[in-house]
Amino acid sequence: MKIFLDTAELTEIRRAEEAGLIDGVTTNPTLLSRSAGVDGDPRAILEEICATVPGPVSAEVVATDADSMVREGKKLAKIADNIVVKAPLTEDGLVACRRFRAEGIKVNVTLCFSPTQALLAAKADATYISPFIGRLDDVSTDGMDLIRQIRLIYDSYGFETQILAASIRHPQHVVESALAGADAGTLPAKVLWQLLKHPLTDHGLAAFLADWEKLPEGRRVI
Ligand code: G3P
Repeated sequence: MKIFLDTAELTEIRRAEEAGLIDGVTTNPTLLSRSAGVDGDPRAILEEICATVPGPVSAEVVATDADSMVREGKKLAKIADNIVVKAPLTEDGLVACRRFRAEGIKVNVTLCFSPTQALLAAKADATYISPFIGRLDDVSTDGMDLIRQIRLIYDSYGFETQILAASIRHPQHVVESALAGADAGTLPAKVLWQLLKHPLTDHGLAAFLADWEKLPEGRRVI
């Protein structure tokens, strides 16, 4: 499963990229509005993210009618070759998605909460579909069921749209998304670093190092 970082914070993106842990980045208007980078200028932040991460970088339109979405999306796509235009799962969003795809622009259709929405996004040739797991869990609905249903539908009909599990809140969401066959998951930085941690790793390393110190100093050479 590919791992994307769901943030517009450049410091977090640089750290994860340097560690070789991410395949791409997703942003949204909320994340961009809160980003501290490049004096808070969204376009400059996106330029910097694209220069830092070679993989796909999702940048969302904020218009709500198809013509304006297409205008905005084309501007976003010019920022860098790795921009993926993000459009909401509305009638206009899907019209815009088709038009982007006809011009070879990749599209991440976002705010997906049902399998029927995901089916329509695939028929509109979306590159990625973003089911929001955490927000479904927030309203007492199993977000993971949605990932499983979309996987089954896409595989049954040979759709190539990639499932990008979004609104991930904790490591177990990542595990379950991977088991359910999501192609990618987009994670807040906190969750990415949580994936790495295990107390037995820390404990085991401390024990190895303590034992090594027991060797006479002259023999502690590798
Ligand atoms: O980028 C979209 C999505 O990941 C947002 O997550 O936590 O705001 O529901 P959240």
